[in-house]
Amino acid sequence: MPALTGKPGSCWVATAEATDYPPLEGSIHAETVVVGAGIVGLTVALRLAEAGRSVIVLEGLRVGQQVTGRSSAKITTQHRLIYRRLIDTLGTEQARAYADANKAGVDRIGSWIREYDIACDLERKPAYTYTQDPGLKSAIEAEAEAARTLGLSAEVVDRAPLPFDNAGALVFPDQAQFNPAMYLTALARAVADRGGRIFEESRARFIGEASRWRVVTDGGTVHAENVVVATNMTVKSPVGMANRTQPRSHTVMAFRIDDSAPIDGMFITVEEEQSRSLRTGRDAEGPLLLALGPRFNTGQEGDVASRFAELEDWARGNLPVGETVWRWCNEDYDTADRVPYAGEPDPEKAPGFHIATGFNAWGISNGAAVGMMIADAIMERPTPWKALYDPTRPYPEDFHKSGESQSVVESVDDIAPGHGGVLVKDKKHIAAWRDEAGKLHTMSAHCTHKGCPLTWNNADRTWDCPCHGSIFAADGTVLHGPARVPLPPERL
Ligand SMILES: Cc1cc2nc3c(=O)[nH]c(=O)nc-3n(C[C@H](O)[C@H](O)[C@H](O)COP(=O)(O)OP(=O)(O)OC[C@H]3O[C@@H](n4cnc5c(N)ncnc54)[C@H](O)[C@@H]3O)c2cc1C
Ligand code: FES
Repeated sequence: MPALTGKPGSCWVATAEATDYPPLEGSIHAETVVVGAGIVGLTVALRLAEAGRSVIVLEGLRVGQQVTGRSSAKITTQHRLIYRRLIDTLGTEQARAYADANKAGVDRIGSWIREYDIACDLERKPAYTYTQDPGLKSAIEAEAEAARTLGLSAEVVDRAPLPFDNAGALVFPDQAQFNPAMYLTALARAVADRGGRIFEESRARFIGEASRWRVVTDGGTVHAENVVVATNMTVKSPVGMANRTQPRSHTVMAFRIDDSAPIDGMFITVEEEQSRSLRTGRDAEGPLLLALGPRFNTGQEGDVASRFAELEDWARGNLPVGETVWRWCNEDYDTADRVPYAGEPDPEKAPGFHIATGFNAWGISNGAAVGMMIADAIMERPTPWKALYDPTRPYPEDFHKSGESQSVVESVDDIAPGHGGVLVKDKKHIAAWRDEAGKLHTMSAHCTHKGCPLTWNNADRTWDCPCHGSIFAADGTVLHGPARVPLPPERL
């Protein structure tokens, strides 16, 4: 395994003020309970709170530290090349709805930052989708044309302003980037200031119906007329989302730079398989350059550390970067048609039950848009993007691909301190993790969602599920995904 550079963790989370909302205790009621304090959940909550509606937010970990707080946080309607494809596959009306929704999401974020005077390192930047392959120039031109048809401002340049050769780019002027963890911390404060109640370290273990909805955590229960499952991947839904989505992870590295001038803009490649994404930012010590590597199916990569090494080599060969300061993985869920699933999946049988997932790694603008849409649906206001995001629309059944554990070892002797491996015994998979002091801890390696054997992520030091993307800490605690309960202890 290659040596890893940089501190583990997101530079945005490390730079944002720590939150300290209490865990839920006892039985309480609100008109709406929002499960998950990411961009979707807090957008719903603040829109409701602003309208004087009663809302409770339950967060399993801490506000803003998961997918939103680990993203590259470009606030843009430029989602690589998407509009030509949406026009061709879904038609001009739905493509326009996607453009309008994301524009509204971008505008909502900007307005709240202004109205609440949120310090979140917001910077206006152009967004570039570039290529080094001259053969892709015509696709860029077609995308610019499609985007303009839908009312977006788009241009084509022969060369993206990057310090290495390239064959041109699509440019959307006047987009933005920010620190998403600082933004969400401020949204949470605004919710609380308007009477919303926020509970952290309050994972929803059970969601079910009582007289209305009931969400149960280890410490208490919330009863509500509406429940919004804003957990990135649904932890419960009347219409299953697992097979409609594919969990995908990326490596992210933040390097120290002296000056952000050589990278003036936000950049992503046209190519998805060999993807690179770049933006500048800052932590408490100064300016940073973030580089992101290509996606891989969560839990289906046995050597994530090598992906970091490969990304670092590329960055050092192409960009004026200094030491690696931060590194982390982030996960989001893709959909076959590249449009998220959001709304009320079964208003007849499960009225007041709302979900949002499948952001295809473009959930800052989409997340703000669906957050507004869900809040408006609860308040019985018009929701123009309901058909676009319809969570029950048909999907290709062969889209989702589960995988196998990539971490099977013969013996615990193969597990180094700080690492994990999976042993197979009588058809049972056992996750063994050796702590830094050399002590071995064993637990079930079967994901508590639907039982798939887990893969050890040798960079983030987590157990990642190759089926629907649940992520567990080395000790088995749930970090992310549809799983709601930790890995139980299991003897070797
Ligand atoms: C590498 C990467 C880069 C990205 N960059 C961009 C970008 O530049 N621009 C862009 O538009 N999008 C980007 N995205 C996508 C975007 O970050 C996400 O789509 C968006 O942040 C998802 O928001 P969310 O609210 O659904 O999820 P989250 O922010 O993860 O919020 C969900 C919350 O729910 C909590 N939770 C989960 N389960 C439970 C439970 N049972 N009980 C209570 N709480 C629970 C979690 O702890 C979490 O805090 C990127 C994604 C990736 C993977
Ligand atoms: S996330 Fe579904 S089985 Fe693991």
